[in-house]
Amino acid sequence: ASPVVAIVGATGAVGVELLKCLEARGFPLGALRLLASARSAGRTLPFRGRDIVIEELTEASFAGVDLALFSAGSGISKRYAPIAVAAGAVVVDNSSAFRMDPAVPLVVPEVNGAALAQHRGILANPNCVAAIATVALAPLHRAHPIRRLSLATYQAASGAGAAAMEELRASTAAYLRGEPYAPTVLPHPYAFNLFSHNADIDPASGYNGEELKVVAETRRILDAPGLPIGITCVRVPVLRAHAMAINIEFDAVVTPEEARERLAAAPGLRLVDDRSANHFPMPSEASGRDEVLVGRIRTDIGDPSGRTLALFVVGDQLLKGAALNAVQIAEALRA
Ligand code: A2P
Repeated sequence: ASPVVAIVGATGAVGVELLKCLEARGFPLGALRLLASARSAGRTLPFRGRDIVIEELTEASFAGVDLALFSAGSGISKRYAPIAVAAGAVVVDNSSAFRMDPAVPLVVPEVNGAALAQHRGILANPNCVAAIATVALAPLHRAHPIRRLSLATYQAASGAGAAAMEELRASTAAYLRGEPYAPTVLPHPYAFNLFSHNADIDPASGYNGEELKVVAETRRILDAPGLPIGITCVRVPVLRAHAMAINIEFDAVVTPEEARERLAAAPGLRLVDDRSANHFPMPSEASGRDEVLVGRIRTDIGDPSGRTLALFVVGDQLLKGAALNAVQIAEALRA
C-alpha cells in the first residue's frame, strides 16, 4: 500500500519544495498530512490540484503516519522525531539534530546509499553544502582516495529559511529605492553585500558552526574519518543555489581530463565546463534543477606536485541540498 506521509514544517522554504518534489516525482501517497506551527494551522497549500489544510504539529500528529519528512529546525526534530518513530513512522530529518548520531545514517543516495539499510527509524539528510559537495567528490574519491580538501563556499539565502529569502528581496528593493533597511533575520546587510556565515563561532577553533558541520558530515558521508578539510563559509546575495570552490589533493596525480570523464559519467551531476565560452556553473543555471553542476576543472597550480585539482560546484540548496535528497532517501527506502 502507498505510505501515509507527513511533512513537518510544510510552510517553510524546504517544506514547500518537499511538496513540489513529491508531486513532480509521482511519489506514491496513501495520504499527505501537512504540519506546521499554530500560526499556519487552517491555511492551505496546493498539492496535485487540491488544497490541503495545514494542521498544527502536536504529539498526536503521527498516528497512522508511515513516513515523516521533518524540516522545521533541530529543536522540533529532537522533540518530535522520537514521537513519530514511536508511532510507527520512519523519519527523514532535514535538521542537524541527528546527523552525527552513529545510530542514524547520514545519506546522499548517489554517494552512500548502502548506509540506508542500517536505520532504526530515523535517517538524516545532510547539511546542504555537504550534500552538494559530496555528489561531486565521491566519484573522484572512489577512484583515487582524497588526501586533503579545501573549500570556500558562496551560500544562498535559502539555507537560512523562507524569511531570509524574503529579507534578501526586500532589502535589495529598498537599496534600489535608496531607502534604509534594517535587517531582522540575518545579522548584516544582505543587498549588494556578502558576509561570513552567521552560524556561531566556536571559540576554540575560530570556525563557525556551519563550517564545522560541513567538515564532520563530509567525512561521514565519504566514509573518510579524519580527512583534513579546511573551509570558509560565506553568505552571498543569491536566493537558492550554493556555490563552492573546492581544491582536492589526491594520493596521486589525477589529470583534469580523467576527472572530467569521471564526473560526466557520475549520477546526479552535470558537467558545465566550457573554457572557450568561459561558461561554468552558476546559481542562475542551478536554481530549480535536480543536478549539481560541476566545472572549472583544472590542476591546482598552487600545488607543484600536480596531485591537486580545483573545481567549482553549484547546486540548488533547496533541492539536492535539502528536499530532493530527502525524497530520494524516501524513494530508496521504498525500493
Ligand atoms: P510556520 O510557517 O507555521 O512558522 P523556514 O526554514 O523556511 O524558516 O521554515 C520553518 C518551518 O518550521 C515552517 O514550516 C514553520 O511553520 C515550522 N515551524 C517553526 N516552528 C514550529 C513549531 N513550533 N511547530 C511546528 N512547526 C514549526
